[in-house]
Amino acid sequence: MRRVLVVATGNPGKLVELRELVSGLDLELRSLSELGLPSPEETGGTFAQNAELKARAAADAAKTWALGDDSGLCVDALGGAPGLHSARWAGNDEARRARLLRELDAVPAGRRAAHFFCAAALCAPDGRLFRAAGRVDGSIATAPRGTNGFGYDPLFLPAETPGRTLAELPSAEKNRLSHRGRALAGLRPTLEALARGADPGDFSRPLT
Ligand code: IMP
Repeated sequence: MRRVLVVATGNPGKLVELRELVSGLDLELRSLSELGLPSPEETGGTFAQNAELKARAAADAAKTWALGDDSGLCVDALGGAPGLHSARWAGNDEARRARLLRELDAVPAGRRAAHFFCAAALCAPDGRLFRAAGRVDGSIATAPRGTNGFGYDPLFLPAETPGRTLAELPSAEKNRLSHRGRALAGLRPTLEALARGADPGDFSRPLT
């Protein structure tokens, strides 16, 4: 029987990616909203705290293993903004991208460095936490390009794919280099053990 893993997100773009990232494993990802359960408030002061509180709240509510992911875009020229507030920076993805371009209007190409960060946490029904994190470095384009992905993807140029935004990459390529892909790679041993029906033991790594 496939093991159900509850995902503490209401973001459909993230859910699609998380499903792709565990696609080789015998795990069925169900979001809190699909289960009719409320999403927890993001009251933490760091990505790691938010990932943990989301995972714990989902595990408590669904009484099963749960995955929480908290992520955001950190722009050097904006002192790390939008950072933790990436989702709340404006009303929708288009407005968030427009605000980012506006705030960087006078910033020249060489000073538009940014990174995405993702903290991920798995919480067991007994409260044990398994943690990982990932980041991808790059810069902010001067106009959106590409239609894949979600959020700020059309404006983010990974250093590893010069001239192409995240939204111009096929999903497998984004997943290979993205902050979320890297965070999930850190949780891979735990997820593999879960999918086998074994107790994962403690494979947790410190968050950076
Ligand atoms: P949260 O983790 O639910 O607080 O939301 C993080 C927000 O950061 C998202 O709503 C997006 O605006 C942005 N974000 C996080 N990861 C990505 C990504 O992979 N691509 C584009 N935007 C992202």
